[in-house]
Amino acid sequence: MNKPDLAEILARAKARRQSLSRGELAYLIGLESPEETQALRAAAYEVKVRNSGKTVSMRGLVEMGNKCAKDCCYCGIRRSNTEVVRFELDEDAVMEAVRRNMELQYGSIVLQSGEIESERHTELIERILRGISNMSGGRLGVTLSLGEQSRGTYERWRAAGAHRYLLRIETSNRHLYAALHPESHSYDRRIECLRMLREFDYQVGSGVMIGLPGQTCADLAYDIVFLRDMDIDMIGMGPYIPHHSTPLGRDIAFTPEYAARHLCLGLNMIATTRLFLHDVNIAATTALHALADDGREQGILAGANVMMPNIVGAAHGNDYKLYENKPINDEGSAEGRDELVRRLAAIGETINWNRQGNSPHYEKRVQPGNQL
Ligand code: 5AD
Repeated sequence: MNKPDLAEILARAKARRQSLSRGELAYLIGLESPEETQALRAAAYEVKVRNSGKTVSMRGLVEMGNKCAKDCCYCGIRRSNTEVVRFELDEDAVMEAVRRNMELQYGSIVLQSGEIESERHTELIERILRGISNMSGGRLGVTLSLGEQSRGTYERWRAAGAHRYLLRIETSNRHLYAALHPESHSYDRRIECLRMLREFDYQVGSGVMIGLPGQTCADLAYDIVFLRDMDIDMIGMGPYIPHHSTPLGRDIAFTPEYAARHLCLGLNMIATTRLFLHDVNIAATTALHALADDGREQGILAGANVMMPNIVGAAHGNDYKLYENKPINDEGSAEGRDELVRRLAAIGETINWNRQGNSPHYEKRVQPGNQL
């Protein structure tokens, strides 16, 4: 087979969305040479700038609690990890974080925790959502990242004021999904949940882990096609990073070479996704930050347009360790925010202050005349 013509592929991808074959997606994801990966990221960055300017939308991330009913083989807060001290922020602590997020002028907030399905928890989230709506006069964008829930729960949380929901598929390859989760964790239920979220008119976010053991570039290409087929509005994906007390991570050495390889793969995946989908929101995730101090900024330059600074991290950071090296820095302080502003200014970007920063893909869906 002839060597693919990278310049031609990138020019076509920039000009028209969804104009790459699966083989081409896999080829781009697998690029390794510095010249080629640089060309890929630069092309994706052009598409990012065309869709959302040289701005980054912020969502203050509130890690509400680490109690989790699930036992995912890769995750540090899986149910059977007895080394973690379990915590749960109370309503006052969450509202304090919301107040701080408004002071910081980040425009949106994400409430994330381990998966808990109970009436007590559903009601707690409802009260918090109403509280946020009151406090912000409905101006703050609210995203939930609270796992698989019943139809009734999703409906209640939407009615109480949530706008968006993040639920990663983790991998769209069923066999890999089955290998990474206990038998009781159902791939089909996850798909069903994503469908229900769409039905209740959430902006729906999903995504995958990148560089999992056994995962190929062809799998990652399928992941991008999956996100397209599900008509996903927002994408959160990051490199897989081992955690020493998990079945999957126990025997994987987290070396500088591992970090460099996974950072490159993660950035290629972000860039390729941007080049294929054009108008979705893509987050430069914390996992990138765990692999390099400027990993998130590199993510923006590879086509991401969203950041999720942790605004309560310092207190419980050690207990919310999904993987090794997860940074514990409080970006909810004015100093933390100013540091982020400086980091973004250094790459020519500014913060989309006080804006909810909806996904242009979503805006077009709800207002077809709107060519944002
Ligand atoms: N490495 C990278 N990401 C992880 N997550 C969980 N464990 C890991 C890990 N070891 C991600 C999952 C989950 C999100 C909250 O964190 O994709 O959806």
